[in-house]
Parts: sequence; structure tokens; C-alpha cells
Amino acid sequence: MEFLEELFHKTKKDKNRPLPEVDLLEPEDGSNIYRFLISGTTGERTGYLLSELDGNVAHFSIYVDKQSAGKGYGRKLWKRFKSWAEDNGVIQIRGHLVPDDGRENDARKFYHRIGAIITKDNQIIINLEKPAQT
Ligand SMILES: CC(C)(COP(=O)(O)OP(=O)(O)OC[C@H]1O[C@@H](n2cnc3c(N)ncnc32)[C@H](O)[C@@H]1OP(=O)(O)O)[C@@H](O)C(=O)NCCC(=O)NCCS
Repeated sequence: MEFLEELFHKTKKDKNRPLPEVDLLEPEDGSNIYRFLISGTTGERTGYLLSELDGNVAHFSIYVDKQSAGKGYGRKLWKRFKSWAEDNGVIQIRGHLVPDDGRENDARKFYHRIGAIITKDNQIIINLEKPAQT
């Protein structure tokens, strides 16, 4: 069953179709929230990732519209965010698994795919590699 769900999810994704680039908006005055935004191929906003930097820890939450799920938007947001975090000296990324109108299982699978640890109390933890010493 689990296997069939995975297969279904994969066939929904057309790996050859390029997705729009992720926009990064810097925090506005008085805020510490970085916003990563992605639009669909016709320009509509399809997903976002929000992050707050706390020293070398980045807290985040991610959301992709139900209609756009399974098409690679989440992965693209994640890749952009992770490389930004690495460039900014982040060593740990933390989030929280939030049940969202029955999509908690999708989120769990997504987090497993990106190599996250999910604790019993639904904390999401991703430890980043320390940059190599030169
Ligand atoms: C979790 C969420 C961000 C995933 O976004 P998405 O655009 O659907 O994910 P993608 O299509 O980019 O998939 C990324 C990877 O996760 C896997 N994955 C995601 N959902 C899956 C599912 N339901 N079943 C199997 N695998 C799944 C994909 O196979 C893919 O793996 P790959 O890139 O190695 O091939 C999205 O479903 C969502 O916003 N959910 C609701 C909000 C939520 O729960 N947010 C988390 C709280 S912080």
C-alpha cells in the first residue's frame, strides 16, 4: 500500500518540466523572517517556505498548495532554502510537523525524503554538514 502511494506520487511528477525559480525575500523592517516563494508555470503562487534565523539554527515551515503537491515544488523550495542556510553558517534546521487538513502523511514522507529526523513529539531536525576545514 505504502509502495503504491509512493509510485502514484512519483508518476504525478514530470521530472523534465522545469519549475520557476524560487524568490527569496529578505526580512522586512522589524521582522526576522526570510520568505522563499515559488510560483506555478502560469505565475500563480503555489508554495512558500518561511524561516527565522536564530544564531546558527534556522527555524522553518513549508507549505505547497494541495493542487500543486507532488510536482516537485516542495523539493525545489527545500533545495534553495538549504543552500541559503549553508551559505549563512546554519548548522541545524528545525521545524514542526503540523497536521494540515489530512496532509500530515505527505509531510512525513517529504521529511523522510529530505533526510530529516522526526522526533516523537513531531519536531523536525536536519543537521547540516560542517563546512570542510581549509
Ligand atoms: C509536505 C509538502 C511541503 C511537500 O511538498 P510537495 O511539493 O508535494 O513535494 P515534492 O513533490 O517536491 O516531493 C518532494 C519529495 O518528497 C516525496 N513526497 C512528498 N509527498 C509524498 C507523498 N505523499 N508520498 C510519497 N512521497 C512523497 C516525493 O516523492 C519527493 O521525493 P524526491 O524529490 O526524492 O523524488 C506539501 O505536501 C505540503 O505543503 N503539505 C501540507 C503542509 C504541511 O504539512 N507542511 C509541513 C508543516 S511544517
